[in-house]
Amino acid sequence: MKIVVKIGGKNIDFKNEDYFRVLAQLVKEGIRLALVHGGGPQITKFLEKEGRESQFVEGLRVTPPQDMEITEMVLSGLLNKMLVGIFHRQGIPACGISGRDGFLLEGEKYYPASGDRKVDLGRVGEVKKVNPRLVHVLWEGGFLPVISPIAADREGESLNVNADWAAARLAVALQADKLFLFSDVPGVLRDVEDRDSLIEVLSWAEIEILKEEGKIRGGMIPKIEMAEEALRGGVKEVFIGEGKEMENLPLFLAGGKMRGTKVVL
Ligand SMILES: Nc1ncnc2c1ncn2[C@@H]1O[C@H](COP(=O)(O)OP(=O)(O)OP(=O)(O)O)[C@@H](O)[C@H]1O
Ligand SMILES: [Mg+2]
Repeated sequence: MKIVVKIGGKNIDFKNEDYFRVLAQLVKEGIRLALVHGGGPQITKFLEKEGRESQFVEGLRVTPPQDMEITEMVLSGLLNKMLVGIFHRQGIPACGISGRDGFLLEGEKYYPASGDRKVDLGRVGEVKKVNPRLVHVLWEGGFLPVISPIAADREGESLNVNADWAAARLAVALQADKLFLFSDVPGVLRDVEDRDSLIEVLSWAEIEILKEEGKIRGGMIPKIEMAEEALRGGVKEVFIGEGKEMENLPLFLAGGKMRGTKVVL
């Protein structure tokens, strides 16, 4: 079985390595896991140290060229290697790469439309093409790929891509069986303020309504858009849940339940 797991920056709690013990166990059992990570809060923290503010448009971080260096250092350096360390301590030969390695993620600058004008978000990219060969090579060699969401443009320069985009497009390219997007919320909520308002099964028709009502905002927008794309692209199951639910992943993969939102077409 091939699975892609994305963990949000808010979930990377390095003090609690138990979090990752379950993923390590799955790898030991022979599941082909590709782990994609975000890092929003950590990037914000390091930018603040430099006196720079973080701005978001549609859940995407505005990344002026002068912020790109810090963004890449935090994602592909600090966080990526911290994760690799966690897996190494659990006996898993993790290999930390970014989307720039091996032409894994080819990107282009992304311009969200606002009316009839294009908004320039700086070095924010979208993933145009995924070349998953490196992931296959790592799997064949017995390594766990840990992937930071940085893509390369035509010139080989780095682009900051939303980690949900990276994970979903990678899942399609790998024809993964399942895609899991773990974040700091129990799943898609009817009311963001109410953690009990979890929507367990979310259909595309309902997503459109929630979006129109303004109930899906910020960082949840890329997640649900990518959930749909992944399903249409051949991934059989997409699940949005809270990081701590990773504990129940083995149970879920064996046919059991896990708290979160299953997105269906
Ligand atoms: N309807 C909704 N249900 C749940 N969360 C929502 C909803 N609308 C907006 N959100 C927001 O989406 C956020 C999750 O996305 P966010 O981008 O902040 O985190 P992430 O993707 O896990 O981390 P990273 O961006 O670092 O990868 C939640 O913290 C919540 O505030
Ligand atoms: Mg996000």
